[in-house]
Amino acid sequence: MDIDLGVTLAGIRLDHPILAACGPWTATGPEIQAVAKGGAAAVTAKTVTSEPRAGHPAPNYITWDGGALNALGLPNPGIHHWLTEFAATRERLREWGVPVFVSVYAESPQEFATLASLAAQVAPDLIELNASCPNLGHDPTTGAGSAEGIAFATAAVRAAVRLPISVKLSPNTSDIGRVARLAEEAGADAITAVNTLPAMLIDADTGRPALTNRTGGLSGAALKPVALRCVYDISRAVAIPVIGVGGMATARDAAEMLMAGATAVGVGTAIDSHGPRVLGRIALDLHDFMAAHGYPTVAALRGKAH
Ligand code: SIN
Repeated sequence: MDIDLGVTLAGIRLDHPILAACGPWTATGPEIQAVAKGGAAAVTAKTVTSEPRAGHPAPNYITWDGGALNALGLPNPGIHHWLTEFAATRERLREWGVPVFVSVYAESPQEFATLASLAAQVAPDLIELNASCPNLGHDPTTGAGSAEGIAFATAAVRAAVRLPISVKLSPNTSDIGRVARLAEEAGADAITAVNTLPAMLIDADTGRPALTNRTGGLSGAALKPVALRCVYDISRAVAIPVIGVGGMATARDAAEMLMAGATAVGVGTAIDSHGPRVLGRIALDLHDFMAAHGYPTVAALRGKAH
């Protein structure tokens, strides 16, 4: 059977549905190039902000049996420095035919719009609005991350740039379908679901929180069932495509995410555990899974669980 792994996401043609999700593995130019070489169909750069941010002190990223817990605090050099640093990598990825998504975080709709306009200077294929970082000292589902805040931010960015926009949502909300629908109505072209889930670990020997920031965001295997449920709910609520993220480490995980309704699958923590080549391996294994189970296209898998 001929298998076609290609997908179209917000007008962007991808060779296969396996993307590198935003994270510490895509913070620098060399890291972005490594995950592209590792076989990602597109790469989401680590979130950038208007001003430089040092992030939270270590320990700020720990692994445990169920995955990882991070409280990095959005460390980044700030948009102006980042644009200069990123220019050469943007050219490399263009030569290699790998789309690049730029993730931005801001505190207000106007700041989101300004930041997105600046990010547009490197002509990314898509701008991801990070409306869901759990490590900034306030609940990501309030302020700019509330359903209404997300709608205002999306509308402001929609008015400022012509590029496709995806809005990255927190799983820590009672009705993620409604949040996604408001983002869609405000002009989003896609939804990225989900960011990490607020969580904590405690060192039983010392009685102290394991992270300096005390709490952090849960990712990896423990997040997978949460992410699947969120993508299932969102894809029933909106018509725009969903990038499913959360605990994706194997082709079977990816197949389940597509069956939940995703159009593409973001891999994150597994890059940290297994290296960038895990991306190409998941894509190859997904091809074999589809051949073995008689799915000729990704569309044949999408939403199968509905
Ligand atoms: C962080 O840098 O704290 C994690 C990024 C995020 O959760 O959006």
